[in-house]
Amino acid sequence: MACSKALQGSAVLLRNATICNNVVSARASSWWGAVQMGPPDVILGVTEAFKRDTNPKKINLGVGAYRDDNGKPFVLPSVRKAETLIFERKMDKEYSPISGTADFCKHSIQLALGEDSQHVANGHNATVQAISGTGALRVGGAYLASFFPGAKDIYLPTPSWGNHGPIFRHSGLNVKAYRYYDPSTCGFDFKGALEDLSKIPERSIVLLHACAHNPTGVDPRPEQWAEMSALVKKRNLFPFFDMAYQGFASGDVAKDAFAVRAFLKDGHQMALAQSFAKNMGLYGERAGAFSLICGDKDEAARTMSQIKILIRPMYSNPPINGARLVTEILGDASLRQEWLGDVKLMADRIISVRSTLQNNLKKLGSTRNWQHITDQIGMFCFTGMNQQQCERLTKDFSVYLTKDGRISMAGVTSKNVDYLAEAIHAVTK
Ligand SMILES: Cc1ncc(COP(=O)(O)O)c(C=O)c1O
Repeated sequence: MACSKALQGSAVLLRNATICNNVVSARASSWWGAVQMGPPDVILGVTEAFKRDTNPKKINLGVGAYRDDNGKPFVLPSVRKAETLIFERKMDKEYSPISGTADFCKHSIQLALGEDSQHVANGHNATVQAISGTGALRVGGAYLASFFPGAKDIYLPTPSWGNHGPIFRHSGLNVKAYRYYDPSTCGFDFKGALEDLSKIPERSIVLLHACAHNPTGVDPRPEQWAEMSALVKKRNLFPFFDMAYQGFASGDVAKDAFAVRAFLKDGHQMALAQSFAKNMGLYGERAGAFSLICGDKDEAARTMSQIKILIRPMYSNPPINGARLVTEILGDASLRQEWLGDVKLMADRIISVRSTLQNNLKKLGSTRNWQHITDQIGMFCFTGMNQQQCERLTKDFSVYLTKDGRISMAGVTSKNVDYLAEAIHAVTK
């Protein structure tokens, strides 16, 4: 009896061991058995935690998309009109050319350089539609990795948009840094930037945020841009402008294009990434453009041919719907005017909640200097709060933000700004 029990027990052990071995060998024999879990995206992680919170006063300041004064996503009235016009025209769904349509490309580059741009009139630009700003940066990265005649090094401001590093590394460039933000003033480290730019080896690439720097909201002033342009020229560096927020910063598309146009006036050639995600609210439509401003028309044609060769195996050709909306809006004088009003409305709302937040903090008796809230521009404000303060904001007040102290001003409304000021004051006094 004892013997048969012992035998039964060892049979169970043997069976368990076999199951275990099978699992192990199934894991080992699976193609992906050795793949490790990757870290979640920092910003999407903030949104996930926000969704789980049941506090009715909760605020999500992590997301980089415009919200109206009720905290809701906003479709621009001009975009709605363009949608109706396109729908009524019953257009086909054929493939786009590799570079997108000529009309889309022309409107995009003219928006950046100006309607009267001689570079465009003389055909010095090679412009392609891209999969929004990210795709434009990626196509630009691929082009520079293949054809840039200097060092394959791109220098990013510190800090920069979190995706810049991965995009350019993935493109095959070496990613390096130059000083940009000064935590002691929550402003531009102009001296540090000039010092670093002057030490970058000649014939390297420098990435510049054209306006509304993400994540800091800190932009150089026009006279500072002028000095930077002269230095970039003197050091023989190649400027790559990322223009993801044209119009969104000041409410004026020409004003926000100041840096790009000033560099061109100074005789720079450049690469330019544009996005219509923010200024037309076309986030999910993925409409953007990549341009190279070349020495002459022939050079533009040659570079264009190579950019198309790079795009073809990546995604063949770009999506048509967002590009049609952009073309409709920029190509129709009255719709364009209406869109300029929509852009201003978004920018003005952001500018106004910046002042309200600053005033409320003052009224609550905060002794900290919050001047940077209104000095900074665009979607984001780098508040200067440390990690501990950010964590307290989330834990005690259900205010969600990234741990670097960046808040998306788009998530601040006339309804939640009082509560937000109280929360910020409580964790910073
Ligand atoms: C600085 C910067 N560049 C580029 C992008 C790209 O955006 P998208 O690919 O949605 O156009 C963003 C988006 O947040 C950004 O902040």
